[in-house]
Amino acid sequence: MIKINFFPQNLHDAKVDAILIPCFEDEKTNQYLSLLGSEFIDEYQRLCKSKSFEAKAAKVHVLSSLGKINASSVILVGLGKAKDLYCERLRRSVAVAHKAAKQTKASSYLSLLNQVEIPDVTFTVAEAILLADYSFDNYKSKNGNGKSKIKNVFLWNNDAKAIPEKRKEIKRAEVVARFTNYARNLVNTPPNDLYPEVLAKEARKLKGKGCKVTVFDEKALKRMGCNAILAVGNGSSRKPRLIVVDYHPKGAKKSLAVVGKGITFDSGGLNIKPGSYMETMKCDMSGAAVALSVVSAAKALGVKHRVIAVVASAENMPSAFAYRPDDIIKTYSGKTIEIGNTDAEGRVVLSDALAFTEKNIKPDQIIDLATLTGACVVALGYWTTGLMTTNDEMATMLSQAGERSGDRVWRLPLWEDYKDTMKSDIADVKNISKCRDSGTITAGIFLQHFVKNTPWAHLDIAGTAFLKEAQYYKPKGGTGAGVRLLLEYIDAM
Ligand code: BES
Ligand code: MG
Ligand code: ZN
Repeated sequence: MIKINFFPQNLHDAKVDAILIPCFEDEKTNQYLSLLGSEFIDEYQRLCKSKSFEAKAAKVHVLSSLGKINASSVILVGLGKAKDLYCERLRRSVAVAHKAAKQTKASSYLSLLNQVEIPDVTFTVAEAILLADYSFDNYKSKNGNGKSKIKNVFLWNNDAKAIPEKRKEIKRAEVVARFTNYARNLVNTPPNDLYPEVLAKEARKLKGKGCKVTVFDEKALKRMGCNAILAVGNGSSRKPRLIVVDYHPKGAKKSLAVVGKGITFDSGGLNIKPGSYMETMKCDMSGAAVALSVVSAAKALGVKHRVIAVVASAENMPSAFAYRPDDIIKTYSGKTIEIGNTDAEGRVVLSDALAFTEKNIKPDQIIDLATLTGACVVALGYWTTGLMTTNDEMATMLSQAGERSGDRVWRLPLWEDYKDTMKSDIADVKNISKCRDSGTITAGIFLQHFVKNTPWAHLDIAGTAFLKEAQYYKPKGGTGAGVRLLLEYIDAM
């Protein structure tokens, strides 16, 4: 990981390859450029006049070999209008600037982007740098192709008294980014190397220091009556697991269970997916990756609340042992599910995980995360996670945590009106809806059957967990969507 430190001295003394300067659209001049020398101001004004650089948000311009400074380039970083600046705009601009520095082959840079006025600015800048620097090249034989050459980043700070407090912000950013990137790694790891038992192995690494880990294998699941998880996993030679990581600090007053869908590959099962839809379905364990990452980060940060990750993991495959459409499964809760489509498997494994969590862990709140429905991608695209809950307080808190973190959610209703669509003629509930419309909501309605009294929220991350195209500090592939949202949520709990 990149080292982030403070540089408290004169800009001219910085021995770095690049210097990053914040620029605002509505400012005619730039106080930092004038510190570097008049040639920089002259050049800046020329650029602005010719509209080659207008300081629009997330736009950068590289100046090279100018003035009497050590750095070989100065990167102008647009932030839009000063009065419109907010956290997410800063994060995105920091990410674009970081990538520009990377392209100049810099191994170090000094950033002045922490000079802007935003709450927790040091945290925000550090977080964006560490998230933007991510690349997944564990599987490239020429290791390190996409790897960053940037080793050191310095944040300018000429207020020595403020440094100890600001250092804490960097420390938090390092943990948040480390575990967001951990979730990305888990999601990007191919399904031949990541299957239920591998997730269990990852969970076991968390044992100790207030963390208890329990893994239920197929024998235990049978004994317990977790027939829904078993049914989905039965078509695969990789056997299913229910994984519980319980971070329980002394004196904890509140508890949150984070339940994750952990389908390590979703072929659709007997209702097999067409090829183009099956591609990228290694991402179907993203909810599980988030749950493990959040509990890991909670432990690393020493948060004061109890946080429990519950992961229902299986591989959804067609075979002679696979579960079938028309099967009826008796779940852990005692309720029966009629299977209408084996590709609606996420809600099936979650039915056991949610009921198990409520009955055995008895947390104050449950939040589940799942790449649950293609319909959510249709509704909200790749920028927004779907939120469903009947608890208005959780909805408000999650929406606010989303705004602060930039890991945003939008609420969809769970009104009674939708209830009938999930009825089965011969079982308690069916895993597909009578109508094709509102597929995200009806999936949420299905899950609702398996949580009795606990305040609960469901996050559909089908569109946000895995990207076909990078977005600023989010890479192509696994994004870790949900990790920063929940860490922010827990912080406000
Ligand atoms: N894992 C998929 C949902 C999904 C789609 C995630 C696209 C990420 C990107 C889920 O198991 C699924 O197959 N859902 C079906 C449900 C249908 C059969 C009711 C879907 O969305 O088509
Ligand atoms: Mg499916
Ligand atoms: Zn799935």
